[in-house]
Amino acid sequence: MQLLINRRLLKHNCILFVGILFIFEFIYFTFLQIINSDPFNIQFSTIRLPKNNSNKKFFKHIQPFYHPVSCPNLFESDPDELKHALALLSSSRSLLLIADNQYNITYEQCHIYRSERFNESFHLEDTLINRQFPLAFNILMYENVEQFERLLRIIYRPQNFYCIHVDSDASLNVFEGVKSIVQCFNNVFLSSKREKVIYATFSRLQADLNCMQDLIKYSSWKYLLNIANTELSLKTNSELVKILSIYRGYNDIEGRWKTRIIPRTKYAWEIINTTSTSYLSHLRRTNEKKKPPPGNVEIVKGSAYGAFSRAFVEFIQTNSVAKDLLDWSRDTLSPDEHYWATLNYNTHLHPPGGYQAKRDPTEWTARFVIWGKRNCRGQVVHSICIFSTVDLPILFNRHELFANKFHLNDDPIAYQCLEELILNRSKIDLPLNDAVFYRRMPFLLPS
Ligand SMILES: *[C@@H]1O[C@H](CO)[C@@H](O)[C@H](O)[C@H]1NC(C)=O
Ligand SMILES: *[C@@H]1O[C@H](CO)[C@@H](O)[C@H](O)[C@H]1NC(C)=O
Ligand SMILES: *[C@@H]1O[C@H](CO)[C@@H](O)[C@H](O)[C@H]1NC(C)=O
Ligand SMILES: *[C@@H]1O[C@H](CO)[C@@H](O)[C@H](O)[C@H]1NC(C)=O
Ligand SMILES: *[C@@H]1O[C@H](CO)[C@@H](O)[C@H](O)[C@H]1NC(C)=O
Repeated sequence: MQLLINRRLLKHNCILFVGILFIFEFIYFTFLQIINSDPFNIQFSTIRLPKNNSNKKFFKHIQPFYHPVSCPNLFESDPDELKHALALLSSSRSLLLIADNQYNITYEQCHIYRSERFNESFHLEDTLINRQFPLAFNILMYENVEQFERLLRIIYRPQNFYCIHVDSDASLNVFEGVKSIVQCFNNVFLSSKREKVIYATFSRLQADLNCMQDLIKYSSWKYLLNIANTELSLKTNSELVKILSIYRGYNDIEGRWKTRIIPRTKYAWEIINTTSTSYLSHLRRTNEKKKPPPGNVEIVKGSAYGAFSRAFVEFIQTNSVAKDLLDWSRDTLSPDEHYWATLNYNTHLHPPGGYQAKRDPTEWTARFVIWGKRNCRGQVVHSICIFSTVDLPILFNRHELFANKFHLNDDPIAYQCLEELILNRSKIDLPLNDAVFYRRMPFLLPS
């Protein structure tokens, strides 16, 4: 009898329970339909998100893995911490990346994605001073969606503009992954034209120009910085704004004359079909001497990267010598390394933000690069140092705006620590460190 009643009770409870479940499910799916119908009309505050964000994230599968190290200690050259970090790096598990095809965010999921991965206050609204000084970025990439996502997370601000050039021969997973991230932001977009970028050829320069053409349509930005996915900022957005405000329209472009490699532009170069992957083996110098460059310009060597004022980017796109020089450069070696510098330092062309250099090489701040093996603690690829955990103390106090380069899969701890440092600094608004250094840049001094 007792058993019977209990069973009946149980049955009754079960029906009640199932009933409540149905009601809950109904409410839940109605809620889902509402938020899915127009995700961008929903304010962030109205989205119900899991309270405990350590294990209930919707995009848990794309949360980067963070290594248990003390980054402050690594920046301070603590030998024990370094030993610990190097031991972690030597275990292969620590080098695992998030697979590119894991970035398959749908448009409807964008608000959840942004609330989980772009949830710092500066991601939602930047300070007034920064909002009044929007920046534009070209990001060139071929691989590694995780590194792209983490780079964007550091440099993203709502008032800026970001053009992403994914090489046309990048894998579909990379392209689709980037596309699914980019759709979640109305100020981040894919370049309208894609190039198959071949190292040291014209295609590299063309990719940057494609993005510049797309970005110039947005009228508010003041400076454009071209960066590669393998780079990381050494400055926060606030610091970039302060430095570039000090530069008051001058371009931050490297220029060198004596150390320029003459055959790069003296002869015509051709791309050859080769299966060899060794450095520059795909380019061959022909015996054909090139005509002198147009506009009576002297070729100046510089970096492929720089900080360009808006007026200079407009000049590049409209000035007839700039256009002729571009055409002339098609069959040169690494035109990306002479195009900006030549336009900037041939002042008879009156380039906006250009100047008459008095020193060779010129001072500039856009990039920190270590060339060659000397002073490089990591490995060297294409004669450029890939930064490692050992280099963190060097990176800590540099004046340059960005550092080139990082391979997330070679040394994830170096990346993680610089990322952590810049993110930390982005949350507070400190005075610009060593502002005097930037104020004394030669292009700002009276000639
Ligand atoms: C979240 O949940 C995990 C595991 O259930 C727990 O260890 C952690 O302390 C929780 N965090 C917060 C902030 O409640
Ligand atoms: C996205 O990728 C994850 C992991 O592979 C998978 O579980 C999920 O079903 C995928 N989502 C879509 C919409 O394809
Ligand atoms: C986003 O940030 C807000 C404010 O700091 C916080 O309340 C919320 O839990 C965060 N959301 C997620 C998904 O972490
Ligand atoms: C290289 O290969 C491509 C396609 O296979 C061909 O169109 C091109 O003419 C070749 N170039 C040379 C220099 O042989
Ligand atoms: C960043 O901030 C967190 C939280 O305050 C702190 O634990 C961490 O050590 C800081 N890291 C760096 C590199 O400043």
